[in-house]
Amino acid sequence: MDEMIEMARQARERAYAPYSNFAVGACLRGASGRLYGGCNVENAAYPQGQCAEATAIGNMVSGGEREIAEILVLGGGEQLCAPCGGCRQRLAEFAGPDTPLHICGPEGLRKTVTLGELLPYAFGPNSLEQP
Ligand code: THU
Repeated sequence: MDEMIEMARQARERAYAPYSNFAVGACLRGASGRLYGGCNVENAAYPQGQCAEATAIGNMVSGGEREIAEILVLGGGEQLCAPCGGCRQRLAEFAGPDTPLHICGPEGLRKTVTLGELLPYAFGPNSLEQP
């Protein structure tokens, strides 16, 4: 957990968030145990901005892994920085309902939930299976 927090902190320091000024870092643990970090990357054309989780997923997949064992998101402010709806869906592509998701602030862990708690009845790869 400490290692994941540290990686998310480092990624968050590199966040490109000049429009929201809300820097976010994420860290994913792949099934292999390897860690993948990511930060949010905003854009002058606002909808083109990318969340930290999406960056971390891209780093994991391009690193050769497709299974998420553990998720950690680290944001600022007083509120819990829980993944947005789009990122819950992105994470559900590579993680299961029981995958732990740690929500952190700059000071450390704030709350641990499961992905299934954040995205019940998810539409995932299995939903496309034909009888
Ligand atoms: N953001 C993330 O990167 N991850 C989250 O879990 C919540 C929101 C980013 C998107 C945008 O760059 C900024 O935070 C403000 O919404």
